[in-house]
Formats: sequence, structure tokens, C-alpha cells
Amino acid sequence: MSGPAPAEMPVPDIFDPRLYGQGIPHDLYRHLRDHHPVAWQEEPEVLGWPAGPGFWAVTRHEDVVRVLKDSATYSSYLGATQIRDPDPADLPFIRRMMLNQDPPHHRRLRVLVSRAFTPKRIDRFTVTVRERARSLLTRAVAEARAGDGTCDVVTQVTDDYALLNLTDLLGVPDTDRALLLHWTQRVIGYQDPDEAGTPELGADGKPLNPRSPSALRDMFAYAHALAAHKRRHPADDVMTSLATDPELTAPELEMFFFLLVVAGNDTVRSAAPGGLHLLAEHPDAYRSLCDGEVGFATAVDELLRRHPPVLTFRRTATRDTELAGTRIRAGDKVVVFHASANHDERVFPAPFTLDLARTPNPHVSFGDGPHVCLGAHFARLQLRVLYEETCRALPASLEPAGSPRRLVSNFINGMKSLRVRVPNA
Ligand code: HEM
Repeated sequence: MSGPAPAEMPVPDIFDPRLYGQGIPHDLYRHLRDHHPVAWQEEPEVLGWPAGPGFWAVTRHEDVVRVLKDSATYSSYLGATQIRDPDPADLPFIRRMMLNQDPPHHRRLRVLVSRAFTPKRIDRFTVTVRERARSLLTRAVAEARAGDGTCDVVTQVTDDYALLNLTDLLGVPDTDRALLLHWTQRVIGYQDPDEAGTPELGADGKPLNPRSPSALRDMFAYAHALAAHKRRHPADDVMTSLATDPELTAPELEMFFFLLVVAGNDTVRSAAPGGLHLLAEHPDAYRSLCDGEVGFATAVDELLRRHPPVLTFRRTATRDTELAGTRIRAGDKVVVFHASANHDERVFPAPFTLDLARTPNPHVSFGDGPHVCLGAHFARLQLRVLYEETCRALPASLEPAGSPRRLVSNFINGMKSLRVRVPNA
């Protein structure tokens, strides 16, 4: 006999951000779901970022949903929502963001902000979103045909698509859009040496947490100036709606701007190439989509299930408790793994099959419970239109030309490059 029985195999590491640069570690997730559904993870120093105390990794769908719904036991407020512990001095600041609050306080901000996110307002952007998808795809296809017959959908289409759609919704003027891209790259790409460059250092010589107040000062000043501009020149956009809401304080508005810039850009920026990559790898599925055999709306959700843009969110236990037979102590970090939950064979028949007509499809890519994604309607709209326009631009086939380059991050399932082949017209 060689090697230990699977259950006795050591608990694999699913924390290291470098793992995700190679792909989602589905084999490790599966092992954890089967044998250690709530598994202790060490948090060693990695890529210059300090070590942490470790956390519980939750990998089964049922347990992930339980954690996300039970905010009385699993708090977003105590230690905020990122795996890495914030600097204790920054906590009061970070907790001003609604993402990092618990009911009942969270409810007040959620209600206020939902008013700016009405489906009617979002749907009005459909025409602009479609024009943008069409013009970006047309240009990329033309450049490919004039060149080596391939294009990079990330750098030529989806990065701009996500950012420009978001800036339209928020009401950010064209001239300021590059600033937003810079900020989101700094916050999300910080684990990836390619994206972040050399990390900014704090007074203690350690890398500065990109979510700390000092790192965000310029973005907040900008939010402030934009709000003042919107009060003078109101328009039909989210920033006008927030800036003119008498119940929202100035610090709340700044924080909300930050949340939207990060939550609304990098997620779609990941989902769009992720979905296109899956379609390129499954030509029959792509054909059935373009031929109208399956609906775009159900396809969007299946592509989000297979490629969840968010990989993890963190909670902190408020009391001693038990999850899937494992004892968790008050103060422990508990981290849910969305890609694992979305491939849990206890819930999804043939979870690794891309079934664009899959219903029901209770994936957790948008989360669950009180913090379930506020931008889901806008995200689905953008993805549906992008896939519709891709079928229009490339009706014959969507073929990969090499492997994608992936973001080094245990938070965002990002793609830095995805080349596809463009057939001659
Ligand atoms: C495919 C794209 C997207 C995905 C996968 C996604 C995913 C998520 C997830 C998992 C959460 C829950 C966080 C938690 O459990 O703590 C969340 C919350 C949130 N998302 Fe999204 N998101 C997407 C797009 C967007 C867009 C386009 C916007 C805005 C324009 C947005 C705004 C928000 C906000 C404001 C929250 C916080 C809600 C709260 O704390 O109550 N998201 N999102």
C-alpha cells in the first residue's frame, strides 16, 4: 500500500494567493468538501505580506449559505470581510462601509443606497452598454484581422467594458476614468506583483494595506469633489442620487463610492473574460447559445457558477459555535469559498459540466443573506449584453489561442489576458 487514505491526507493549503495564479484548486476543494468541510488554514507570510493567525475554510454549499445568512453568529463587522486582518487602528474606518456592518445597522445604509440602484435606472443603461460592447468587439475583431488573427479580449474588450459601464452608472466624467482604474488595481491587484508593482510602504517599512485610510485619501477627496459637482449639475446617475440624499452623511458617501468602485469594477472585469473563456472551451455550448437553443439569461448564471468572480469572503465568529461538526470559538475567522460551494456535488448534478440551461442554479457567486450583491442586476445585464454581442461579432466560433493569464489573488478570480482566435470574415 502506498500513501495515506484520502481522509488522512493532510489538510491542503487553499490560502496561498499564488495557487490561484495557476487556476482554481478544484481537487483540493473537493478533498476538503469530502473530508474536512470546515478546515483550519494557516496564514503564513506570503509575497511580503505579514503572517496572520489562521482561519476556518468553509467549502460546502450548505455551510457557506449558513455562514452568509447567519450574521448574528458570523459577523462582517468584527474583523471586516477580507481574509487579511486589518490594522486595528484602521478598523473603525473600515467599519463605516456597509459591506463591513451587521444588521440592524447595515440595514439603514442598504435601504438608502438601494434607492439609487432601482432596476428602472439600471435598465436605462442597456442601450449604452450594448453600443459599448459592440464598438469594443468590432474594433478588437478588426485589429485581429489586420494582425495575427488573434485578439486579447481582456485588454481589448472586457477591462474597458467593465470600467466604462460602471463610470456611466456612477456618473464619473470621461476625463477621470483612468483614475478609477488605477485605484481598483491598487486595491484588488495588491497580491499580484504584475498588477501592483512595488507595494507602497508605510512609516514602519511594511507594505501599506491598500484599504487603509492613508492609502485611500485621494479617492475620498475625489468622491467629495464629484458629489459637489453632482449637486451643482444633477444627472440621472447613482452619484447624483447619493449626493442629493439628505440622509446620507459625507463620510458615508465617500465610503460608498469606494465600495462601488471596487465591488462594481473588478467583479465584472473578472466575470466577463471568465465567461468568454468557458464558452471558448466549450464550442457546442457556444453554438447552442448563439443559435438561440438556450437563453442568454440562464447562460449568464451558469457561467457565473463555473467562474465566480469572488473567491472568498471573511466573517468573524461572535460566539462559540459549531459548523459541520467542527467547534469554532468566538473571535475565530471563518472564510467561505464561493468556487467550492458552486461545485458542490451535494447540490449541483455534474458540477463540472457546463450546462447553460441549468435550472435551478443556486450558485453563491453573488453571495447570500443580508449582504447579497446589490449590483447583481447591473452585472447580469452587462454580461448578457456582452455574450449577445459576442455571438453577433463572432457567430462562427470563439476559439482560444493559448491559455489565459490569471491574477495572483485569493480574493478575485481575475484574468489578466485571454487571447482568442478571430476567423476571417
Ligand atoms: C458579476 C459581478 C459581481 C459579483 C460576482 C459580485 C459579488 C458580490 C458578492 C459575493 C457580494 C457579497 C459580499 C459579502 O458576502 O460580504 C457583493 C456585495 C456587493 N456588491 Fe457585488 N458583485 C458583482 C457586481 C457588482 C456591481 C456591478 C456592483 C455595483 C455597481 C456591485 C455592488 C455591490 C455592493 C454595493 C455590495 C455590498 C452589499 C452589502 O454590503 O449589503 N457588485 N457582491
